[in-house]
Amino acid sequence: MTAPRAQWGSKVGFILAAAGSAVGLGNLWKFPYVAGENGGGVFILAYLVCVIFVGVPLMAGEIIIGRATQKSPVGAIQALTHKGSFWTSFGWLSVAAASSLLSYYSVIAGWAMYYAYLAVTGGLTTAGTVYGDVFSQTVASGGLSLSWHLAFMGLTIAVVLGGVSNGLDRWSRILMPSLLVMLAGLVVRSYFLEGFSAGLDFSVGIRPEEFAASSMLAALGQAFFSLSIGMGTMLTYGSYLKRDDDIMGSTLQICALDTIVALLACLVIFPIIFTYPELSPAQGPGLLFASIPTGMSQMPFAGLLMTVFFFLLVFAALTSAISLLEVPVSFLIDRFGWERRKAAAVAGTAIFLYGVPSALGGVEGGAFFGFLDQLDYIVSNFMFPLGGIGLSLFVGWRMPDEIRHDHFLSGSKFKVFYNVWLTLLRFVVPFGIAVVFLNAIGVV
Ligand code: PHE
Repeated sequence: MTAPRAQWGSKVGFILAAAGSAVGLGNLWKFPYVAGENGGGVFILAYLVCVIFVGVPLMAGEIIIGRATQKSPVGAIQALTHKGSFWTSFGWLSVAAASSLLSYYSVIAGWAMYYAYLAVTGGLTTAGTVYGDVFSQTVASGGLSLSWHLAFMGLTIAVVLGGVSNGLDRWSRILMPSLLVMLAGLVVRSYFLEGFSAGLDFSVGIRPEEFAASSMLAALGQAFFSLSIGMGTMLTYGSYLKRDDDIMGSTLQICALDTIVALLACLVIFPIIFTYPELSPAQGPGLLFASIPTGMSQMPFAGLLMTVFFFLLVFAALTSAISLLEVPVSFLIDRFGWERRKAAAVAGTAIFLYGVPSALGGVEGGAFFGFLDQLDYIVSNFMFPLGGIGLSLFVGWRMPDEIRHDHFLSGSKFKVFYNVWLTLLRFVVPFGIAVVFLNAIGVV
C-alpha cells in the first residue's frame, strides 16, 4: 500500500512553487552574464525565441506526463510504456541532470549566502571596496565556498524533509512579489545612471557580429536552465497537481514571469556596468556579484539594500534548489519505497559531496580548477538538450493520444491551441534542439 500522493493546497500553490522553481540564479546570476558574453540584444532575442518555441511547449508536456501518472520521471515514463522501455532512459537522465545541476547550484547559492552575511555585517559597505575582487577572493577560497555550500545544502535538505507544500507557499507569496518590486525599483534607479542609455542599447541593440555559432546553443541551454525544464522538475511538480487545473494557462504564466525577471535583471545590471569603467559586460560569472554592490554602494541605505537583495536572491535560489532535490527524492521514494526523510537525507548528502569539487574548483592551480564551469557546460549544453529532445519526442509521439489530449484540454482556456502545441512538440522542439546542438559542435 502506498500513501496517497500529496497534492498542492491550491492552484496558486502549484503556480507559486513552479514559478519558485523557475525564478532563481538562472535569471539573476546567469542570464545577464551569458547575455553579456554573447552580444547582449541579439542573445536576448534568441533567448525569447527559445522560450516561446521550445520552453513553453516542453514545459506543458512535462507537466502533463507528471499529472497523468502521478509519478517521478522514471516511474512516470515506465507507467506510460513498459518496464525496461528505451524511453525510461530519459527518466534516468533527468535524475542525473537534476542532481548534477544541484551539486554546483548550491555552491553558487552559497556565495550569495555569504554576500548576504557580508552585507549584514557591513563587510560590503567599507569604503574603497572593489567588488570584483571580493568575488574573486570568495571563489578562490575553497574553505569559504565549501562552508557556504554546506550551509545552503543543509537548508535545502531541511525544507525538502518536510514535504512539498509545508508553508513555503506562504513565504513565496510575500517574497516573490518583493523580489519583483525590488527589481523594478532598481530599474528606476538604473534609469538615472549615466550608463543607462548604453546599457539599454546593449540589451536591445542587435549586433549579429557578436553572436557566435555557439551563442544559439547557449540561448537554448539558458532557456532550459531558467525555465527548469528538460530534467524532470516540472514533471515532478506536475505529479502533485490536481486534475482540473489548466496546464497551458499555468505554463504561460510561469514562463512569462520567469522571462520578466530575467529581463529586469538585465535592465538593472547593464546600466550599472556601463556607468562604472571597472566593470565589463563580458566579465563572466562574477557579473552580478560585482555589479549589484557597485551600483548600490552609491545609494542611501546601501547596506540595508544589499542585505535585502542578497536575502531575496538566496530565497529565490532556495525555492529552485528544493525543486531540484525533489527530483532524486521523489525518485527514491517511488522506486525503493523509502520514507521522505530518508530519501531527502541520502540524496541531499550525496549531492553535497558531488558539489565538493565545484566548491574547491576556484582555487587556481588546484586539482578541481574550473570544475564548476565545465560541469555547467555539460549540464546546460548536453544533458538539458538531450533530455528536452527525449521528453518532447515522448510526449509528441509515444504518449497515448487520449491521455495527452485529455490533460491538455482539461480545464483549459487554450483548447484551440492543442494542434499547434502538438506540432511544435513533434517537430519544432526536437529538430530545433538537434540542429542548434549539431551546429554548435560544428557538425552542420
Ligand atoms: N530555473 C532555476 C533557475 O533559474 C534553476 C533550475 C533548473 C531549477 C532546473 C530546477 C530545475 O535558477
